[in-house]
Parts: sequence; C-alpha cells; structure tokens
Amino acid sequence: MKDISKKLLEHFQNPKNVGVIVNADGYGKVENPICGDMTEMYIKVEKNILKDVKFKSYGCFATIASASALSEAVKGKKIDGILKGERTMEQLMDMVMKELGDIPKKKMHCPPAPIEAFLKAIQDYCAKKNEEKMVKKIDDVLSSVKCYYKVGLEE
Ligand code: FES
Repeated sequence: MKDISKKLLEHFQNPKNVGVIVNADGYGKVENPICGDMTEMYIKVEKNILKDVKFKSYGCFATIASASALSEAVKGKKIDGILKGERTMEQLMDMVMKELGDIPKKKMHCPPAPIEAFLKAIQDYCAKKNEEKMVKKIDDVLSSVKCYYKVGLEE
C-alpha cells in the first residue's frame, strides 16, 4: 500500500460516518458496475441542510475511504448548494479527492459509487417532498456518472 496517501489510509482505517440512519430522509444504494461491490447512503435533512450522512459499503478500501471522505465533505452543507451549477458530479469528485489526497489510478472506478449512492439519497429525499424539478436535475447528474466509472480503466 505504498502508493496510497496518508489521508486515504486514515479514512479507510478509521472511516467516519459508518452505519445506518433509522428513519432516514433519503436513501440510495448502488452496485458498482465495474466490480459489483455495493454501497448504501443515508441522509438526514433539516431546513435543506444535510444534518447527518451515513454509509454502509461492501466495497474495497478505496470505496470505504471515498464514502467516508464524501460524508465528511458534505455534512452540514445545503442541498441546493451541492446541486447548484452544471458541474455537480465533477465538484463532488473534487471534494472527495481533496479529502483523500490521492487515489491509485486503478482504483478510480471506486469513488463514483458512493457519490452516486449519495445523489440517489438526495433524489429520494426530493421525490418524497414532490420536488420534481430537483428530481429531474439529479437524473441529469446521474446520467453523467457512467463515464466516471471508466476513468483509470483505459490503458
Ligand atoms: S469497490 Fe470494488 S474494487 Fe473498489
């Protein structure tokens, strides 16, 4: 594991926000299309703010570290702010990378899964509140996730 950053190792060995939120406001589950590993995300929302974010993952060290990093990066943020603009997926990837420091190229297909599960959890929350515009916007973001799984697999 010598090519792994200290921050990534720390998030893997001592992951933050592992678990389930009972009566979550939103829930998302994703099976990574490359390896089949599963990640679940739970969110608790108050006044449009992500009060709590928890995850369960049956993935590798990179997915666990990414889910931990993502949950730390988005907790306390406004949902509107996360979905603002046209670069939501790119911004979430940047947030995770910043929190992890670096990730081996061959593991680049792992972080998109917790991000996708998180977006699905927000979409679930918006659907329950009948916020159709937001649901549609998240559909558009989700349609862009596919290409992120392929990063690092070429060559
Ligand atoms: S989650 Fe399956 S290899 Fe990383």
